Amino acid sequence: MNAPAFLIERLTAPGIAGRREALANLLIACVADGGSLGYRAPLALARARTVFDELADVERNGQALVFTASVEGEIAGCVAIFAEKRETEPHIAELGKLMVHSRFRRHGIGGALVAAAERAAFEWGKTRLYLFTSDDGIAPAFYDRADYQRAGRIPEGGGLPDGTLVDALIFTKKLAGHAV
Ligand SMILES: CC(C)(COP(=O)(O)OP(=O)(O)OC[C@H]1O[C@@H](n2cnc3c(N)ncnc32)[C@H](O)[C@@H]1OP(=O)(O)O)[C@@H](O)C(=O)NCCC(=O)NCCS
Repeated sequence: MNAPAFLIERLTAPGIAGRREALANLLIACVADGGSLGYRAPLALARARTVFDELADVERNGQALVFTASVEGEIAGCVAIFAEKRETEPHIAELGKLMVHSRFRRHGIGGALVAAAERAAFEWGKTRLYLFTSDDGIAPAFYDRADYQRAGRIPEGGGLPDGTLVDALIFTKKLAGHAV
């Protein structure tokens, strides 16, 4: 397959609600093929829908930035940045909900989603990102490649869709602004 042309967009709460079905199906597919996203497989559609209802609520409350990647109008991936309103750590935020449908992987979409999220996080005043991921599968190599530092390991702190416990890895990255 030639590298697909893709579009990265920020979605606010109404946009998340409008794309809820596609996002829910993306999550179901990623969990079904082993993605360590915090959900057991098989993930029911009703449950997947609530994940994005909750995400829309968090975005509406000003505590998340949400991005999607689409290919010819079809949702191919997403990512979110989460930041609670904390007085003492206003500079830090968590990256999560990163997923790219298996049909569209290894074409730079995940990297482009993370880069867009980092730019927006920096504009939001965030200078440090962190994330947790299971020490299994693709994600650790992806974050190494995206210049995240490994900041720690939590024994049995991660879980696979089949319920197997694995270690969780903590990754972090200092944001220093991006050339446009
Ligand atoms: C992790 C994920 C988002 C990557 O998306 P993607 O669009 O395939 O990523 P990219 O094409 O931008 O990959 C960038 C680099 O990451 C690394 N990488 C990506 N997939 C990899 C794999 N399967 N094996 C090894 N390295 C990999 C490579 O260095 C790659 O660069 P290259 O293709 O030039 O070698 C995707 O695999 C995914 O959705 N996985 C399941 C869900 C998941 O694990 N999410 C993270 C939860 S914390």
